[in-house]
Amino acid sequence: MRARARLEREGGDGISNGCASDQLQSKGARVYAASTMKLSSSLCIVACLFAAVACKKMAPSEAATEIVVGEFASLSGATASFGQSSHKGTAMAVDEINAAGGLLGKKMRLVSEDDQSKPGEAATVVRKLISREHIVALLGEVASSRSLEAAPICQQAGIPMISPASTNPKVTEVGDFVFRVCFIDPFQGTVLSKFALSKNWKRVAILTDVKQDYSVGLSQFFKAHISANGGTIVSEQSYSSGDKDFKAQLTAIKGTTPDVILASGYYTESGLIALQARELQIAAPLIGGDGWDSPSLIEVGGKAVEGSFFSNHFSVEDPAPAIQTFLKKFNDKYHEQPDAMAALGYDSAMILADAIKRAGTTEGPKLRDALAATKDFSAVTGKITLNPQRNADKSAVMLEVRNGQFKYVETVAP
Ligand code: PHE
Repeated sequence: MRARARLEREGGDGISNGCASDQLQSKGARVYAASTMKLSSSLCIVACLFAAVACKKMAPSEAATEIVVGEFASLSGATASFGQSSHKGTAMAVDEINAAGGLLGKKMRLVSEDDQSKPGEAATVVRKLISREHIVALLGEVASSRSLEAAPICQQAGIPMISPASTNPKVTEVGDFVFRVCFIDPFQGTVLSKFALSKNWKRVAILTDVKQDYSVGLSQFFKAHISANGGTIVSEQSYSSGDKDFKAQLTAIKGTTPDVILASGYYTESGLIALQARELQIAAPLIGGDGWDSPSLIEVGGKAVEGSFFSNHFSVEDPAPAIQTFLKKFNDKYHEQPDAMAALGYDSAMILADAIKRAGTTEGPKLRDALAATKDFSAVTGKITLNPQRNADKSAVMLEVRNGQFKYVETVAP
């Protein structure tokens, strides 16, 4: 019991070899034997049998009837819209995979955990998925900071992890078991910078959420590109996730008369930032990244976000058959329109299923190799080839907030 609790705390070391309980059990058996030399042989046989049964019950045996896949998502809390969307897409993919006969003759079972959008909670629930559910792979998260909590745990346990939507480059740099099905922020930052320059917005103010690796990275990559291409950063301000009052930062920004403001954080704060900017009579347009993608941006920001632009992974207006079919299926199932997280959640599960089929096994290292070999997979968000850095080189789209909707502006290839 104590050893098991330790295993969970330490991030599941040794679990990847298929029988963590085997190691624990045999260690326990050795100590037991040493201290009870007079143990009768019949008792010993019983103990051994017990050990064997316990191990069999706990190990993800090849004979299992299901393939258990873990998912961690912010189903509640500050960025609940991220987790709920990615979960819907992921769950829909798993249903489709099972309806089409499952994988390797087995059903795929998704075990989802809510990290409540809280720092620290992602690591806790991922350890639980590995040690208690014996997942063969992990899907998640949307937010980069939370993927960064999980990645070292999966890497150490030898369990492949696929983030649907985390764009900070550090996520897949953690190790060769960590993948993503989206582009990364050096690209997204460049897309935003080029867009601003194309509008002749050269004087830029930047507002960064210092509590999110995503926001910090996106601001940094944007800044590097625009500074090297004729733009000037007139003000750099920061805030922390959960803040509600941005008047001080916005007042400082107002004095520098920017052409545009980059709000590189998530939708919750960006909607409020837009509202308060307009209250302070700042007329400059706002731009942001994929973290703006939530209906809440418009619910919170209302008229204040009209005329703003952000980069994203796909547009519902794209006539591509893959996107239109997905839209219809999603709408039939959930009676709502999917956002980028839903599409990427769906894609992450489909990419995993494809790799499991090609690997012919769910063994960690072989599954990892199959994932790494993913090439030209036709996903909803575009053709996915996983590059040597385990990222997807894909196009981004620019969207405009117009009449309370996200309208397609343009596609930018890598
Ligand atoms: N890219 C964001 C991050 O890495 C997450 C995100 C993806 C948010 C897609 C919305 C849409 O944190």
